[in-house]
Amino acid sequence: MTVKIYIPRDAAAIALGAEKVAAAMAEAVAARGLDATIIRNGSRGMHWLEPLVEVETAEGRIGYGPVRARDVASLLDAGFISGDAHALCLGKTEEIPFLKNQTRLTFARCGVIDPLSLDDYRAHGGLCGLQKSVSLAPAAIVAEVTESGLRGRGGAGFPTGIKWKTVLETAGPQKYIVCNADEGDSGTFADRMIMEGDPFVLIEGMAIAGIATGATKGYVYTRSEYPHAIAAMSAAIEVARAAGVLGTSVLGSAHAFDMEVRTGAGAYVCGEETSLLNSLEGKRGLVRAKPPLPAHKGLFDCPTVINNVISLASVPVILEKGAAYYRDFGMGRSRGTIPIQIAGNVKHAGLYETAFGLTLGEIVDAIGGGTASGRPVKAVQVGGPLGAYFPRALFDTPFDYEAFAAKDGLIGHAGIVVFDDTADMLKQARFAMEFCAVESCGKCTPCRIGSTRGVEVADKIAAGIEPEKNRELLADLCNTMKFGSLCALGGFTPYPVMSAMTHFPEDFEPAPVVEAAE
Ligand SMILES: Cc1cc2nc3c(=O)[nH]c(=O)nc-3n(C[C@H](O)[C@H](O)[C@H](O)COP(=O)(O)O)c2cc1C
Ligand code: SF4
Repeated sequence: MTVKIYIPRDAAAIALGAEKVAAAMAEAVAARGLDATIIRNGSRGMHWLEPLVEVETAEGRIGYGPVRARDVASLLDAGFISGDAHALCLGKTEEIPFLKNQTRLTFARCGVIDPLSLDDYRAHGGLCGLQKSVSLAPAAIVAEVTESGLRGRGGAGFPTGIKWKTVLETAGPQKYIVCNADEGDSGTFADRMIMEGDPFVLIEGMAIAGIATGATKGYVYTRSEYPHAIAAMSAAIEVARAAGVLGTSVLGSAHAFDMEVRTGAGAYVCGEETSLLNSLEGKRGLVRAKPPLPAHKGLFDCPTVINNVISLASVPVILEKGAAYYRDFGMGRSRGTIPIQIAGNVKHAGLYETAFGLTLGEIVDAIGGGTASGRPVKAVQVGGPLGAYFPRALFDTPFDYEAFAAKDGLIGHAGIVVFDDTADMLKQARFAMEFCAVESCGKCTPCRIGSTRGVEVADKIAAGIEPEKNRELLADLCNTMKFGSLCALGGFTPYPVMSAMTHFPEDFEPAPVVEAAE
């Protein structure tokens, strides 16, 4: 029987040499006359093991990693094709603790299947949710999503079902489903991993959203920095269209839904939903004032659902297994699972999908394994560039929207970036202001001008110029930005700045002046 070898085509694996490994493996397999086929899968999300090469055996898939092209010959010599021992052998992939301890609902197939094989997708439970949806009334689909407790995974945590209900109940000549795949947050890659590793789940989620709200057209808005995701999504849409999953009759039903990928040039503010709509319409990515809400007047002034990739990709499993199944995971008002992205100075960087409720300490120390440098963890920034820095003293905070808000933080897109004790938090605060100044759309004064003033004030503190007065000025500026900005770019930049100042005051003290030796 032909042996299946899996080598990821995920951008992270490619960055670590997967293309060379795949080429070397193909050449060696042919030269040795082995009966094997290479499948280019998505990533399992264990970045420190990439490229993670797997072979299917009677006992299950055996993983090897990180594999370099020069390891291929010795792997084959050692009997890799039969899953035999080798220094890089990790045993059964599913038994690796980082993977085994996860609850993979949204990412159930990512890294497992051939991303562009619809047969593989179906064989692993794909299309069950859509199949069920085509026979349900739109309001019943919306009710299922509402009851599941799913909240937007893009950052704001707004209940997805309520957003869909608004669009369902708003009349319009045309309605749209817009998938926000801009993924601008630092240390985040969940959207990219889904688009590259299981694009059909996003297509299925968007088609369900279309049927639920009466939208017949969808767009995936992503950035030019994601060429592999764009290629995988575009190819998957073609396959889905040819198979009748998309088109005038979705799965043979009376519902029509089609979609396409649109690429932005890559501006952080174009991830903000109204700025994204402008960009999608071919205009400059300028934030729109709300109201009107996009649900009432969105793309081309039509009722529009805008959801993050992970929000939409979580819908098929909700429809397949029922709202109660999904809602049973999690804590408080944070229901279901969340794909946490662990990055920065950390030993085990990668994607960890789990029910809400783990503490930050468990995620950083037990799952992430502490810093890659081996030095103590000083701070963790949660929720992207607008998220707060958490010190170790707050590591008992459970991963939950409300618990993070209570500590003046946010979960955002669930990216966490780890810093060791060499990090200078004043520099990080300055960086937050600089990032805001660079990425500001310029529409409102507190953000456009405030961020530039913020950089100047941080520089004065660093230079030891009237530090006490300038720390007060920085706090005052943050207050103005927080309450006076039109959108969360200016409004949330104070979170990293104020958390750095509050939790690491020693970094905001002027450096002692060293007297020159006589
Ligand atoms: C400056 C800024 C950048 C944002 N970037 C993203 C992004 O990259 N991806 C995303 O899904 N949401 C982003 N958002 C949030 C979106 O405005 C919006 O809340 C989200 O797309 C709604 O989808 P959801 O309800 O599924 O989370 C951003 C918001 C702001 C203010
Ligand atoms: S806060 Fe900044 S990004 Fe948002 S609308 Fe105002 S200027 Fe634009």
